[in-house]
Amino acid sequence: MGLEDKWHKNETIYSMDVETFYDSDGDGVGDFQGLIDRLGYLSRLGVSCIWLLPFYETPNLDNGYDIADYYQVDSRLGTLGDFVEFTHEARARGIRVIIDMVVNHTSDQHPWFQAARRDPDSPYRDYYVWTDEPAQAPDKDTFFPGEEEDVWNYDEVAEAYYYHRFYRFQPDLNLRNPDVREEIRKILGFWLELGVSGFRVDAATLMIDQKGDLPPLEEPHSVLKEMKSFVRSREGDAVLLAEADDAPDELEAYFGEDGNEMDLLLNFVLNAHLTHALAREEASPLVAGLERLPDVSGTGQWANFLRNYDELNVGRLSGGARAEVFETFGPEERMRIYGRGLRRRLAPMLEGDPDRIELAYSLLFALPGTPIIVSGDEIGMGEDLSLPGRNAVRTPLHWSDDPNAGFSNGDPDDLVRGIIDEGPFSYEHVNVAAQRAEQNSLLDRMSRLIGTRKECPSLGWGAHTVLATDSDSVFANRYDWEENTVVTVHNLAADTATVPLDLGDPDDPLHRLVGAGEHTRRDDGRVAVELGGYEYCWLRVGAEHATRHW
Ligand code: GLC
Repeated sequence: MGLEDKWHKNETIYSMDVETFYDSDGDGVGDFQGLIDRLGYLSRLGVSCIWLLPFYETPNLDNGYDIADYYQVDSRLGTLGDFVEFTHEARARGIRVIIDMVVNHTSDQHPWFQAARRDPDSPYRDYYVWTDEPAQAPDKDTFFPGEEEDVWNYDEVAEAYYYHRFYRFQPDLNLRNPDVREEIRKILGFWLELGVSGFRVDAATLMIDQKGDLPPLEEPHSVLKEMKSFVRSREGDAVLLAEADDAPDELEAYFGEDGNEMDLLLNFVLNAHLTHALAREEASPLVAGLERLPDVSGTGQWANFLRNYDELNVGRLSGGARAEVFETFGPEERMRIYGRGLRRRLAPMLEGDPDRIELAYSLLFALPGTPIIVSGDEIGMGEDLSLPGRNAVRTPLHWSDDPNAGFSNGDPDDLVRGIIDEGPFSYEHVNVAAQRAEQNSLLDRMSRLIGTRKECPSLGWGAHTVLATDSDSVFANRYDWEENTVVTVHNLAADTATVPLDLGDPDDPLHRLVGAGEHTRRDDGRVAVELGGYEYCWLRVGAEHATRHW
């Protein structure tokens, strides 16, 4: 490890979409000025890094993941000037900004694609992937079964088929073409100049996959390595967070060698196993998930999450485990999507119980990696299953019980998406203002957890060990780093559990950092931790020592 600033190992990332955060001008759409106005909220919550979903110029047919101009802000959200104000104001509060970078494909409205389809001799033709006659049975499936049928679409103007792994309005870019790679570098360089600290690399797995009839890339990972070396050459501490939903034995490769590829990888494997553990109220699926992951200590870092703005994908679990998750968390067909996922928020999955939600987040924060919160989860927002597809989990943030949940003072008919106004997750019951006023609200508890995670750099840096317990429902682990030891214990079930743990030297003092329960030294030197239903605690073992961050 070099003398690098590895800030990303010890941050809590808050992922959010500008259009559903806060509307400052009453047009019904969240905007950058609104985000600037509410940065104080994020600062108080304690998050130190924001991951922004796409905010670029777009026809907006896939929540902005269909980009028509990489150098412009969607005019509904503001201007480039507003964007720079935002990165400046965020930095002033010690909050870094990572932005989504979608370069596996463009929108079909992008001028590159429009030029490509009109003229076979255009230099842009080869930016995309074409064929005159697609194979009868392509060996790749569409990513959105039920919404798309094929990975090829016929274009009348081009008189040829183009390749798209996602929707038909998202033609895949040809990353074998060096000109496309040069374009990507320019785009990255542009946004780094505007103050971002890194990128969330969308669809990294598909970027380097074989596309259509093109020969495979000679060294697929070189595409990602090039991005990394370029980004680092421009901004020494900028990071790349990849969306790589790949098989577990393929994951290690994304980190490259000596940190020359991705810094963080969204941990889809652990997400599915953690969900299974919460569904069963047992630790073993989580332990199994950790065992499936390659050891990346020293090279990279996992980015762990409970939910995001997409479906909760359990496709990597075994059939039996998947069925259990569906039965517990998605009992109704309308809660499921693509045959592999749930279109639900965390809070309703856990029946809106603040203790269970807090437990789930504490557990997430206690796993090896950098935790990510999806906006709205900090107050326990629900989903709107009447909305199509993944939009169910993309409704505006509830700020208060004012009209439009305080999100906008515009006409309710103009809102980017409707407010949840029925049932136990209605904005009248679940909103920021009410939880600010209430001691020990979910918002309060989340803020405490974020603060505790920040206080314990051993979790981002230290050696991780799962501790054996004699209770099915209790997960316990420890981190050791530069003389600091932190132990966390989580009871996933409703019944009280007591676990004896061997924590080494019986003379070491124990301090509770956060959580509840009792801990007592036994005569045999072991520590008995007693936790009520859904309780957890984090303990510091021994004294706290100053630590170096490299
Ligand atoms: C990623 C995004 C998803 C989007 C897809 C296509 O998976 O998270 O929302 O639909 O990429 O860009």
